[in-house]
Amino acid sequence: MGSFCVNFISALLFSTFFRNSIALHTNLVTETEHVIHQMLESARQPEFFDWLKSIRRTIHEHPELAFEEYETSKLISNELESLGIKYMCGVAKTGLVGTIGSGSQPWFGLRADMDALPIQEFVDWEHKSKINGKMHACGHDVHVAMLLGAARLLQNRTDMLKGTVKLVFQPAEEGYGGASYMLEEGVLDECQAIFGLHVSPQLPIGTIGSRPGPILAGSGRFKATIQGKGGHGTAPHKTKDPILAASMTILALQQLVSRETDPLEPRVVSVGFVNSGQAGNVIPTSIEFGGTFRFMTLEGYSYLQRRIKEVIESQAAVYLCSATVSFMEEMRPYPPTLNDPKLYEHARKVGQVLLGEHNVVHVLIEMAAEDFSFYSQKMAAAFFSIGTQNETITSSSIDLHSPYFTVDEEVLPLGAALHAAVAISYFDPHALMQQEA
Ligand SMILES: *[C@@H]1O[C@H](CO)[C@@H](O)[C@H](O)[C@H]1NC(C)=O
Ligand SMILES: *[C@@H]1O[C@H](CO)[C@@H](O)[C@H](O)[C@H]1NC(C)=O
Ligand SMILES: [Zn+2]
Ligand SMILES: [Zn+2]
Repeated sequence: MGSFCVNFISALLFSTFFRNSIALHTNLVTETEHVIHQMLESARQPEFFDWLKSIRRTIHEHPELAFEEYETSKLISNELESLGIKYMCGVAKTGLVGTIGSGSQPWFGLRADMDALPIQEFVDWEHKSKINGKMHACGHDVHVAMLLGAARLLQNRTDMLKGTVKLVFQPAEEGYGGASYMLEEGVLDECQAIFGLHVSPQLPIGTIGSRPGPILAGSGRFKATIQGKGGHGTAPHKTKDPILAASMTILALQQLVSRETDPLEPRVVSVGFVNSGQAGNVIPTSIEFGGTFRFMTLEGYSYLQRRIKEVIESQAAVYLCSATVSFMEEMRPYPPTLNDPKLYEHARKVGQVLLGEHNVVHVLIEMAAEDFSFYSQKMAAAFFSIGTQNETITSSSIDLHSPYFTVDEEVLPLGAALHAAVAISYFDPHALMQQEA
């Protein structure tokens, strides 16, 4: 009887506590959800949307290559100033880091890259690139506009920020590893976590996609020169033919993946250029070629790097030529991008609240690379693709890096709100992420 009473009372206490705690959670979750929806609504107001478009279009008209993003940087600093947001500029040469919130722990990073590509734009539209041979063909203009949009949304709700947001505007994503220079300057030392978005013509507008764990490959570049001995094409025995040596070498490089790699581990070796010779009846003295290699692990990186060098040098020797191989230190190798499972889950839930449950999709690993990977080595990181494909705009399904690449600008308010929502709910200990932890 006594024991029944104790059990009954504790059960009663427990259930009261339990109900209160659920009620507490529900209220807080509802409030966070409410704010998230309010942010999207704000970003979609005509004045806000026009402001986002004008930022994106100004940057699109004035594309700047890696580490040359001076005008882009100036535009960002002007916008941050008019929003009353503190920032540091000249980080990693042309980057900026803005700060919003309490100035105390925890610190959460939101990242946008800033650089364009050496591509001539072929899209004929009002805001076409005004710089010959340069184009925002990877949507980094959109990324900057979305992050400035998030800055404005967050600056309007600093009352909700129980931590500090770092706005990371990073130069030189395209091949030059700008992210690694940002990290080296120590400006993200306090950050526990970072979130990044990339536009994707493969996903419909209004959807986002990602996966936990590895999502993008690591990448390295190589360049080789094979030195032989030139001569007349009719007397090959008096030459050491570097073209034949390079041909056999390029074939031999293909065995690294097909014969030396576990079929269940993704790796790629691709030769992207070959330069040699002028006349059809002359064997040249040397040949240059180079390419890229991709891997999902650091062992994959060191293995391929070692074997690419060995294969080129020894194949050249077979044909009595000599070879030098360079791994192009100015283009830092990128590690694979890894999504932290908890942060991925957090961003996925925020995405579901913002865009609807069915609009957050699971994507497969791609062998493309991103220097966001450098952040993912230092802190919890989550990288998502945000769809820009729209059935009514046929060119919106053209791939990144194409001279015809086109973005449906409807993505701007979505991306701005998603960035802001992922950050704001990260600080709420009862919100989405920790709820089921
Ligand atoms: C700022 O936040 C308030 C709610 O606190 C909201 O009513 C208003 O629309 C927001 N404005 C912008 C531009 O986000
Ligand atoms: C697709 O583009 C059309 C034309 O610009 C636009 O009216 C529509 O809202 C877009 N669809 C979505 C889902 O944003
Ligand atoms: Zn790119
Ligand atoms: Zn990109």
